Amino acid sequence: MISNEYVIISFNRIFSLHPELMSSAPGRVNLIGEHTDYNGGFVLPAAINREIRIAARTRHDRILRLYSESFAEMFETSLATGIIPSGKKGWQDYFLAVVDGFVKRGVDVPGMDIYICGDIPQGAGLSSSAAYEVCATILLNAVCNAGLSPCEIAILAQAAEHSPFVGVKCGIMDQLISVMAQADHALLIDCHTLETMPVPFDSSRAKIVLINSMKRRGLVDSEYNRRRAECEDGLRIMRKLSGKEFPTIRHIPADVFERFQESLTENHRRSIRHNLTENERVHHFSKCLAGGDYETAGRLLYASHESLRTDFEISCAELDCIVQIASRCEGVYGCRMTGAGFGGCAVALVEPTHVEDFALVMSVEYEKSFSILPEIHVTSPSAGATAMVAR
Ligand code: GLA
Repeated sequence: MISNEYVIISFNRIFSLHPELMSSAPGRVNLIGEHTDYNGGFVLPAAINREIRIAARTRHDRILRLYSESFAEMFETSLATGIIPSGKKGWQDYFLAVVDGFVKRGVDVPGMDIYICGDIPQGAGLSSSAAYEVCATILLNAVCNAGLSPCEIAILAQAAEHSPFVGVKCGIMDQLISVMAQADHALLIDCHTLETMPVPFDSSRAKIVLINSMKRRGLVDSEYNRRRAECEDGLRIMRKLSGKEFPTIRHIPADVFERFQESLTENHRRSIRHNLTENERVHHFSKCLAGGDYETAGRLLYASHESLRTDFEISCAELDCIVQIASRCEGVYGCRMTGAGFGGCAVALVEPTHVEDFALVMSVEYEKSFSILPEIHVTSPSAGATAMVAR
């Protein structure tokens, strides 16, 4: 976590003035429900104890100055001349995409000096970009008195990710959990209705351990968009075959899928099957958490990984290796890849007294196979995004 004091001092160092407002937004780990959000399905993420922080001071002109601590770079533009994507999908584009979202809603965005920092590892599948968009959105909502509801904040942040400034057709999970998270709870999200239900997480029974494979998710954006397009095609074909207008894949009943699956291509069949089985696992897992059955919850994590590896095909050798090592360790309930896939992190639920040994064995074993130490991070479910006066 980054202290308010640190953010204020850092702002001051760059702009020689005191900030007026600040915001924070956490990254997330998805416990279960992968690649189901953009198919109207169910997910169960939790916020982690890593975050993006932004501090702001309004200006009397129309100049927007952004400073990124991670990139040690200043970016300056005039809001008077319109907001244009840099074309590089750089760190400043995420902020500009959010500004553009407010302007498009008819909100008058003032000139500002902005300081951006954070401690969420980038490209590790912990949603640093969604946290950044949410952090910017919740800040501008406060600066401009725009009155957006928590759900509207998540939707505006997601629209920023979809926009030409960034260009990834992500689902709503990452933004929604970053806004709505509650400490000590995971959040069951119905991605069709956007209804949410907090599910208690008992940190005395299990710790959430994140294992970063250190494999940067190279082609993830194009692969992600391709998987999404494949699911949309699959849904279209299922509608045609069955003569039923299912709103999303989630609405396809299992027996209808059974009846028509032979007429689908292998890829479409697998994508839909993963979604339907994963949605069932999310509900089962939520019930297990609520009832304190971490053993069964752990087995569902392994099953989810298997479905992502074989049906959805978004795992990789590094993530498979982490899951295999975890399955041999004492005190591990379960483990799976988490996030978009193709690299990034795996998540394990581990009995608190075994966390240290687990981290040690994981580091040694993983390094033997891939000649790199994984970064291991232990977290409990944290609270969601906030905006506050800087003092
Ligand atoms: C990324 C996206 C999410 C979700 C996951 C996969 O994190 O941003 O919307 O689709 O991948 O579950």
